[in-house]
Amino acid sequence: MHITKASYLVSSPEVDKCPAADRPEYAFIGRSNVGKSSVINMICRNQKLAKTSRSPGKTQMINHFEISSVSREGDKDFFKWYLVDLPGYGFAKVSQSQRKQWEKMIENYLRKRENLVMVFVLVDSRHEPQKIDLDFVNQLGEWQIPFSLVFTKADKETQRLVSKNVKSFLDAMRQTWQFLPAHVVTSAVKMQGRDKLLGMISDMNKDLPK
Ligand code: GTP
Ligand code: MG
Repeated sequence: MHITKASYLVSSPEVDKCPAADRPEYAFIGRSNVGKSSVINMICRNQKLAKTSRSPGKTQMINHFEISSVSREGDKDFFKWYLVDLPGYGFAKVSQSQRKQWEKMIENYLRKRENLVMVFVLVDSRHEPQKIDLDFVNQLGEWQIPFSLVFTKADKETQRLVSKNVKSFLDAMRQTWQFLPAHVVTSAVKMQGRDKLLGMISDMNKDLPK
């Protein structure tokens, strides 16, 4: 699959204000500052598409990006889908009421958005399993929302430590999950994991009822 066009469409404060649910949608979520916007930019090969920041809490709304792709370079048959950048969880500097608002917005989005095919949950590959991430994936499980794991920032640590952290996360999930989700290790800096992510999205796009 080749992305031929990727552009910012709109930011929405709630699911009811999102664009028409007329094409497949893939959303990126995870802890604040984990690298969601960077992974979206890596996928689209455009560093300026989604706003990234050193300080956590940059992304506040439901951000839609319109993507056009073709199966093979030169094809004329475009396929259109959405990528969605969501605000992160676990940002310390928010009030209780802001956090409640975030939870409501995210729950509504995840449970009501009919065209949402897959949620990519981002996990920082530099750390051992964090309760906040495990709680979040368990919540997705309770809501029966399909997700895959994307381990981020793999360039920041040795491959050995990254592999160890990935294994520990999957082991922690095994305690409550019978089947483990697909996972991919990424580095937005090194463009690592891009082909695998695109392959996963491409396969899901193909499997959708026409
Ligand atoms: P919020 O929207 O604030 O929740 O953050 P986010 O999850 O969208 O993270 P963002 O993409 O803005 O990245 C946060 C910081 O981490 C930025 O300074 C990025 O440049 C850096 N970063 C993200 N991905 C990578 C990566 O793969 N490698 C390295 N070295 N830095 C990364
Ligand atoms: Mg962001």
